[in-house]
Amino acid sequence: METLKVVLIFVAVITTSTSNTNIFGGRCSREDPNVDECLLRSFNSLIDYLKRGAPEMGIEESEPIVIDELSIALGSGPDGYRATFKDIHATGASNMTITNVRSDLETHQFQLTLFGPHISARARYRSSGILLLVRASGGGDYWGEYDGVKAKVYFRGEPYQRNGRTFLRLKQLKLDFSVRDIQMGVENLQNSNAVLEAALNLFTNTNAQELLKEMKPELKRDLAEKMSRYLDHILQHIPYDDWIVD
Ligand SMILES: *[C@@H]1O[C@H](CO)[C@@H](O)[C@H](O)[C@H]1NC(C)=O
Repeated sequence: METLKVVLIFVAVITTSTSNTNIFGGRCSREDPNVDECLLRSFNSLIDYLKRGAPEMGIEESEPIVIDELSIALGSGPDGYRATFKDIHATGASNMTITNVRSDLETHQFQLTLFGPHISARARYRSSGILLLVRASGGGDYWGEYDGVKAKVYFRGEPYQRNGRTFLRLKQLKLDFSVRDIQMGVENLQNSNAVLEAALNLFTNTNAQELLKEMKPELKRDLAEKMSRYLDHILQHIPYDDWIVD
């Protein structure tokens, strides 16, 4: 019985604190000349709140980010090098913080700059073709350690009324990112030998930025889709007039 009471109090506390949106570190005024700095604080407290997931908004814990598949092709022809990465699990994105906000509240546009100290990725990997004069057909495990990840996210919303409150509907989202330092490699290669493994590791590390660039269009598309879904949930649950006031 005591336990039930404690649970009920706990639930009550959670529901009140989310319904009045204290999860934002306070509202921001449209009239405030430093509204972007206010939004920066508010968005960061929201990110902090959402890290562990928010079931009441249909938001799952943000770690890990899972990407089903990405592929790259370098060179053309039958011997061009191709690699496919599956079941990519990336961790560390929840440690990202927003470092800058630029908003245009007239047109409901926002540009956020984010920084993450470190992201790790693991994936299954298959490749074919020729790399550094070595036939690189086979598969194995991929690992990547990314330091100094910077991202820019732009989004535009459109206001609408629901139950007497103003909400934003997500109309457009774009993102881009860069990584300061990349270390990566492959291991546990099947049907392979030490020469191929060494060649692959040499190649991937000396060409890490090139490989990332090659992968970027697909990666950006996938991440933008995930982020749109995430942001859409948030915007549906938190009225716009809860974070911006006149
Ligand atoms: C986030 O950063 C902390 C402190 O550096 C670290 O201990 C933790 O492992 C990081 N979390 C993830 C998921 O990488």
